[in-house]
Amino acid sequence: MSLQLLTPVRLGALQLANRVVMAPLTRCRCDTPGFVPTPMMAEYYALRAGAGLIVSEGTIVSPQARGYPYTPGIWSAEQVAGWRLVTDAVHAAGGQIVCQLWHCGRLSLPEYQDGQPPVAPSAINPQWKMFSLTDQPDTVTPRALSREDIRGVVADFRRGAANAMAAGFDGIEIHSSNGYLFHQFFSAQSNQRSDEYGGSHANRARLFVETLDAVASVMPTERIGFRLNPMLNRHHGLHVDEDTVPMWEHVVARANEFGLAYLHLTEPLSPKQIADTPGALADVGAHFRPLAKTPIISNGGLDRDKGEARLQAGLCDAVAYGQAWIANPDLVERFRRNAPLNAVDRDTFYQGGRQGYLDYPTLSA
Ligand SMILES: Cc1cc2nc3c(=O)[nH]c(=O)nc-3n(C[C@H](O)[C@H](O)[C@H](O)COP(=O)(O)O)c2cc1C
Repeated sequence: MSLQLLTPVRLGALQLANRVVMAPLTRCRCDTPGFVPTPMMAEYYALRAGAGLIVSEGTIVSPQARGYPYTPGIWSAEQVAGWRLVTDAVHAAGGQIVCQLWHCGRLSLPEYQDGQPPVAPSAINPQWKMFSLTDQPDTVTPRALSREDIRGVVADFRRGAANAMAAGFDGIEIHSSNGYLFHQFFSAQSNQRSDEYGGSHANRARLFVETLDAVASVMPTERIGFRLNPMLNRHHGLHVDEDTVPMWEHVVARANEFGLAYLHLTEPLSPKQIADTPGALADVGAHFRPLAKTPIISNGGLDRDKGEARLQAGLCDAVAYGQAWIANPDLVERFRRNAPLNAVDRDTFYQGGRQGYLDYPTLSA
């Protein structure tokens, strides 16, 4: 059977050799003092260059954006030089890579913020257990960003985008989902501001739109993607409510104005939870396909056949896999041969050095 997954596709200015995308995956291997990407990370990404497109792990745009240990940054010249090793290695191996720009907002800890509370739209504690390498600390009540702080966040994303291009990335993906800063602005559960960044849909989308404007001033819009996980539910301190779908529809409509490369959509990971949640969408792609003017990358709990079925049904243009890429550096070749996949080792998701990072076996020729 010839697979649509293995055929080329164009996402904005990005010409992909196949439709098998590597989803962004935080691996906490960036153990340098200045959040500088390492040669080991370059090895890891180059091994996965068979992907039509790699989306990098979440990359923090400033020290304030940080929420986890050993995540890379993109604000300093040293970080740009570190990323250059990665992009050169991926390009030399025939692949393409975009940088996922990330701000964790209130999903952070004082230990990452010089002892100060993390920042958020409003001073509302997400009441979540954070992940750290040794412990599961509780979140704290964040500090509400001032208008001036918000201008700083926008400037940080602008600098991140410019640095990503200087580092040789093929584009960027704005991480506007999963309960992190942009999502915190979108949801009235975490955003109770009374200024122009809170209240109406337009106001809650304002930081995102200002950020798109800012990044579009330093790079071509057809190299910018964004990520939404509308059905993130009872996770990271947010849940689906009756405003969720209308809010995300507004976000997609505003993004349509920019002529972006793609919209990266995550499907609900728990069908049962969705069935139990009023106002929830069972199929995110089916809902947003007619509303989005950009190509769509579909993600979330998909295997080869489910991904192929979504392409065949016209629900998306490419399919992103997360855990499958962790365990299978030659995922595209395995799909081509319909070969079995390596099982993923969760214990080495976020720690283990080279183990669980560079030692998953590839198929023999
Ligand atoms: C170890 C791990 C790290 C992740 N890191 C990120 C990240 O940095 N940014 C992001 O948007 N999603 C992240 N995700 C979510 C994945 O991109 C993806 O949406 C999720 O794994 C579902 O896809 P899958 O079922 O194919 O694994 C992460 C997931 C895992 C398992």
